[in-house]
Amino acid sequence: MTPRPLWKKLLIGLAAVLVLAVTGIVIWFYGVLPRTAPPRDVKSVATPEALARGEYLATILGCAGCHSEIDESLPGDQIKAGRLFSGRRFPKFEGLPGELVTANLTPDVETGVGGWTDGELMRAIREGIGKDGRALFPMMNYPNFRMLPDDDVLAIIAYVRAAPPIRNALPKSSIDFPVSMFIRGVPQPVEGSPPPLPTEPRARGDALLKLMSCGDCHTQMVRGAPLEGMHYAGGTCMEMPAGTICAPNITSHKAVGIGSMSDDDLRRVFREGKGKDGRTLWLMPWSFTQKLNEADLEALIIALRAVPPNDFLAPATELKPEFKGK
Ligand code: HEC
Ligand code: HEC
Repeated sequence: MTPRPLWKKLLIGLAAVLVLAVTGIVIWFYGVLPRTAPPRDVKSVATPEALARGEYLATILGCAGCHSEIDESLPGDQIKAGRLFSGRRFPKFEGLPGELVTANLTPDVETGVGGWTDGELMRAIREGIGKDGRALFPMMNYPNFRMLPDDDVLAIIAYVRAAPPIRNALPKSSIDFPVSMFIRGVPQPVEGSPPPLPTEPRARGDALLKLMSCGDCHTQMVRGAPLEGMHYAGGTCMEMPAGTICAPNITSHKAVGIGSMSDDDLRRVFREGKGKDGRTLWLMPWSFTQKLNEADLEALIIALRAVPPNDFLAPATELKPEFKGK
């Protein structure tokens, strides 16, 4: 027998290494991940204080906004009357890998979360594991919600549970491969209760910026992940009935970001939904930021101003003529 030439040996060796690596990756993602812990044995209590705190948090953290049908004919991401926590098919935009569906969070037993325990809800919110054990797509902001202390999560659950039931059967999200595989690496169990959110304004603002999902819209995404180096530089556009709505650069850059806006200009964005040029903002969820208390609003502005400048010029929103001046 003549010995195999070296290149053949190398090729066979390389193929073997590839097969092993692929098998290893598949076993890792489908056999070992997601990291998960059993749901906790917890119980939310609907005191007036818990309900008020829960309403505040579920509003400003966008739970209500993402999990309810939105009236797209209105600016400011306003919830359709009578559809609080109905769940919805999420609008598609550039960089989203698949069809996202946000769950019906109302207490309807068949189509909502009426049959879930508080522990299962807590785990989904903070650890990204659905009732069925699947890893949730991290647009559901569990990678940041994991910083919420038990009390806050239980207050949110008490408020969600108090919503009127809505029968609205929705399919599960369908996420394209390989993102569907990689997201299995995102969930992480939470041990004990995280400390209360910081009260020092800068640290609180930094936490709010993350908890309020500002980067979801204001950072361009590639296959569901934020584009490196482009945090808060804007550039994502969505087709809406009102036109092509683009998220602007909100870094501290003086010319293309918010660096030249005064604190009052920024308060006007979050309180009244009016942008740099005085126009009413579409899609920007000012119907929720309106509800921020004074301390949280000021903290958010301080943190926003500290975002390093990026000179990216995001495309401008183009409203259809009939929506201009609305
Ligand atoms: C930016 C949009 C967004 C925000 C904000 C958001 N969610 Fe979600 N949520 C989603 C999406 C999308 C899914 C579905 C993910 C999937 O199917 O992989 C989801 C899934 C869930 C689930 C799991 C449902 C299931 O099918 O297993 C629960 C429970 C939930 N969210 C509750 C909340 C609560 C409570 C808050 C606020 C603290 C919140 N969400 C904030 C988008 C959001
Ligand atoms: C659902 C997507 C979305 C989320 C979430 C979001 N924004 Fe926006 N934001 C937009 C869009 C789109 C615009 C521009 C709207 C338009 O042109 O009509 C905007 C406008 C703004 C403006 C006005 C800038 C200017 O040039 O006039 C500021 C400031 C801003 N957002 C900050 C934030 C902060 C801070 C957060 C988090 C608390 C946030 N946004 C969350 C989509 C979003």
